[in-house]
Amino acid sequence: MKLIKRNVLLNPGPATTTDSVKYAQVVPDICPREKEFGDLMEYVSLALTKIVAKPKLYTTVLFGGSGTAVVESVLSSVIPQDKTVLIVNNGAYGKRMCQIVQSYGINYIEFKSSSIKPIDLKKLKKTISKTPSISHLAVVHNETTTGLLNSLHDLGKIAKKFKLAFIVDAMSSYAAIPINMKEQNIDYLCASSNKNIQGMAGIGFVIANKKSIEQSKDLKERNFYLNLYAQYRNFLDSHQMRFTPPVQTLYSLKQAIIECNEEGIENRYKRYSKSWEKLTCELKKMNLKYLVDDEYHSKIITSIFIPEHINFNDMHDYFFNKGFTIYPGKVEKFNTFRVANIGEINVDDIKLFCKLLKKYITK
Ligand SMILES: Cc1ncc(COP(=O)(O)O)c(C=O)c1O
Repeated sequence: MKLIKRNVLLNPGPATTTDSVKYAQVVPDICPREKEFGDLMEYVSLALTKIVAKPKLYTTVLFGGSGTAVVESVLSSVIPQDKTVLIVNNGAYGKRMCQIVQSYGINYIEFKSSSIKPIDLKKLKKTISKTPSISHLAVVHNETTTGLLNSLHDLGKIAKKFKLAFIVDAMSSYAAIPINMKEQNIDYLCASSNKNIQGMAGIGFVIANKKSIEQSKDLKERNFYLNLYAQYRNFLDSHQMRFTPPVQTLYSLKQAIIECNEEGIENRYKRYSKSWEKLTCELKKMNLKYLVDDEYHSKIITSIFIPEHINFNDMHDYFFNKGFTIYPGKVEKFNTFRVANIGEINVDDIKLFCKLLKKYITK
């Protein structure tokens, strides 16, 4: 196998992948309506479910599309016309959920919360109890804009107490931070192929409680391509995706899953955490501040204040030429850049990055 040039992607996905995942895309041409391909999708779907839930009660619905597509699929497919979804907005991805429901004219309540501090749960409960039409609670697990980790344990308890269906955007936590859908009362969990699972971009998926998805069967349709129940039902009935799937990406996702299972989710998170601990330890030595306090941090992505004398674009180009890709910040009121420590990278990559960062900011 010829080695492929290795770039260290410190953007929050698509992440750095192994060569074996890249090469898994090179397969004989196949029509995705063939049984062999249906079996591949079934394998992928089952394996993705097992990472967070028992396949007897939960299932994974695959879509050709990015992460936003599956968040949009859930929000536009499962909320009845006369009900309301409460969306926690504590960053760009919570805000995006609000934009999605706005564009479909779905009833929603935006619960604004600090982008760097934990959610005020008392206030959240009070808001829910004031509006009886709320039937769904939607949150982002790891706010990728800041690295703030919302507690699924606490939010899931609230969803259960108020009998709400619980929708989680776990795009940047799934396959790294352990999640248990049953214990955390999660009905719908959204993720994609190109972040912590370490596959190629192009597949979004929804892991859903089978009972909940079945309940959405007779709801008035607002969408077509993204209809969650139709995509679920079609695969059950025909062993095929409704529309052309990203064929080669699915082969590489299978390989990524095999490698994820070999490493194990806990070990993967340990590896990521070790990189994050090194990163933040070096940032502190350089006197560089970052947004979220360690105790609320996902240890997946860090939003770092840019020193006044540094221009982000110049710094990006400097690192890019050295094989590291850094990412701009996304929190309006803070001048930050972001470093994600996900994908097939390790603490040695972070050590080298920090050495270069120190040189760059003190030059
Ligand atoms: C939490 C979260 N939600 C949604 C998305 C959107 O995913 P995509 O860019 O694949 O549409 C991202 C992407 O980084 C994310 O981090």
